[in-house]
This record gives sequence, structure tokens and C-alpha cells, in this order.
Amino acid sequence: MDQGSVKELVGKKAVETMVKSGMKLGLGTGSTAMPAVRHVGLLLRQGVLKDIRAVPTSFQTSIECEKWGIPLFSLNSAEIRGELDLTIDGADEVDPRGYCIKGGGGALLVEKITAYASKAYVIVADETKVVENLGLRFPLPIEVIPEARVSVSLALEAFGGELMLREAVRKAGPVITEHGNLLLDLRFKRPVDPVLLETELNRIPGIVENGFFTRLIPRVLVGHADGTVEIRD
Ligand code: 5RP
Repeated sequence: MDQGSVKELVGKKAVETMVKSGMKLGLGTGSTAMPAVRHVGLLLRQGVLKDIRAVPTSFQTSIECEKWGIPLFSLNSAEIRGELDLTIDGADEVDPRGYCIKGGGGALLVEKITAYASKAYVIVADETKVVENLGLRFPLPIEVIPEARVSVSLALEAFGGELMLREAVRKAGPVITEHGNLLLDLRFKRPVDPVLLETELNRIPGIVENGFFTRLIPRVLVGHADGTVEIRD
């Protein structure tokens, strides 16, 4: 199976095994989360699922939900009240403990708010996302207030590693997030403690959020090229 088909497979499997009618559902961002979004849409159209109240994590997700007629709500709305039954999302890297790096699609801020407001969390990933140590291959995304770009970059020097300002494609200059911020991508040179760093990094003034997700352990669905889906609890 090619990588796209594996992403389809794992996204659908997450919806079929985890999503129930009546749920308040967080929907993630990226090429692995999108098949899950579309499958929710399909099952709603078929009447297999009913009364889903969805909270999107990005413009990409909102637009896909609109296409499929999935009812959308803000996390603040009276229908959601700041708490979700389940969120399904992708990841850039996942380690054997279920800790993740997210933010490759630039949506880490709302993805983390949504994840941490959820009673259950499912990560969908193809096998290429599974690593022993986070942040050595895929750099850690860090969302930064534009005014703090240089001061945060200086502070991040203490953590070692290679730091890059994320550049936009088909727009001159840096990526601007959906909340008007910049993204710094930090690739570590040696293994780090993601639990410690998730908290430590956010103490630097100007960092809005970082892409380590360690505060809740997800069910991880790993799709393999041979067409199997492994479930890691
Ligand atoms: C977006 C994310 C995505 O979930 C992550 O980048 C994985 O994306 P893909 O499934 O396209 O590889 O965190 O901010």
C-alpha cells in the first residue's frame, strides 16, 4: 500500500472504532486526520452516525467539515462547554510511550487546546511517524509572538540543536499561523525529555505553545504498508 492509502485506512479505522453518535468530537489537521474527517462526514450522510458536534482544529479542518456538512461548533459554545468526548488527530512523530510531536501543519496551538480538553484522544499515524526519541528527525514546532522572535531564538540556544524560522511556500517570508504568530522549528542533536521540555519551553516569554504533547496518553493507531493497523494503548 502507498502512504496515502495507509493514511486513508488508519483514519477510517479510528472513526469506525471510536466515534459514536451524540459525541462532542475534536477533529485534527493534516493529511492523516483528513480521511477521518471525511469518514465522519460520510457516516453522517449515510445516517450511521447522528448528532455529532465537531470542533475543528484549523481552517483546513473547518473547510473539510463544511464540504461534508459536519456540524461545527466553537469549544466555547454552549453546545460544547469546553469539553470534548474524543479528539482524533495526526502526529509528526510518536514515541513508544505515546508522547508526540505535532505542529508540522502549523496548527499545534488549537490542536493542543482541543486535545487537552478531550476525555479520550486518538492519534492516527502511518508507520513512518514512529520513532524511539522525539525531535531528532522531525524538528519541534514552537509558536512564537512575532515581537519575541529574536529573544526567544536566543533563549532557545541553551537547548542546543538547530533552529529554523519556518518559511512560507507561495508567500514571501515566514509562515504566519492562524493566530498571527511565527513558527520556530527546533531539531535536537541528542535525546531530550519531552515531558520536562513541554513545560519548560512555555516559560520563555513570547512562546505561545510548543509541539510536545505529553500530558495525555493517546490510543495510537499505526497503519502499516502491508494493510494492517496496529492499536497501541
Ligand atoms: C498539524 C499537525 C498534523 O497532525 C501533523 O503535522 C501530521 O500531519 P500529516 O498527517 O499530514 O503527516 O500536527 O499541525
